Amino acid sequence: MKAVIFDLDGVITDTAEYHFLAWQHIAEQIDIPFNRSVNESLKGISRAESLENMLMIGGVETKYSNAEKQELMHQKNQYYQALISKLTPEDLLPGIGRLLCELKGENIKIGLASSSRNAPAILKRLEIMDDFHAIVDPATLTNGKPDPEIFLTAAAQLGVSPAECAAIEDAEAGISAIKSAGMFAVGVGHEPSMLQADLIVRQTSDLTIVLLHEVWGKYRIRSVKE
Ligand code: BG6
Ligand code: MG
Repeated sequence: MKAVIFDLDGVITDTAEYHFLAWQHIAEQIDIPFNRSVNESLKGISRAESLENMLMIGGVETKYSNAEKQELMHQKNQYYQALISKLTPEDLLPGIGRLLCELKGENIKIGLASSSRNAPAILKRLEIMDDFHAIVDPATLTNGKPDPEIFLTAAAQLGVSPAECAAIEDAEAGISAIKSAGMFAVGVGHEPSMLQADLIVRQTSDLTIVLLHEVWGKYRIRSVKE
């Protein structure tokens, strides 16, 4: 394990909840149904694709022009940015600060593979920007999660091969992307969407370098046998 690549929203900090609140605000405005189960299917997906999915589920996929959709995305992002403007280092999810320290202590590279265009602003507010050796800019990619491109790009930027990477995600699309990239997948949460993961932890406080090394060892032995 030469590198660990992190998703951001829902792994490093609880901004997955902020995305939910911001989309809920838009859904109320345009009067379409929205709940946590719909939100679950949006996790890891880009802003534009999330809106398209919401409109489709609400049965109004042809109702809005491109300009109106841009405006809805803009409003969602403004609502979201108001929420993230209050983030402080206290908002790191439990255990994440410790894990970053442990990784640095072992010279394991640290990467970020987030679909969010707000990621750099969030890392700055959490004061962990300097811990990352690579931060993939989602605007430079052709395909979003579940395509493996973002994780493969992170590995390339870190100068390691995919087989040397573990990656941590809270979303089904993210876990699929990690597995398609040929990496060791760590899922955070207890959603059915974590099923493809190689290791599932209930909460971020369970993530330690000792656990990663332990399961990584078993996984590699299993991979060689398979
Ligand atoms: C992902 C989130 O990290 O980023 C999604 O899981 C979100 O919910 C996506 O839609 C894009 O984020 P942003 O900040 O660019 O709208
Ligand atoms: Mg996430």
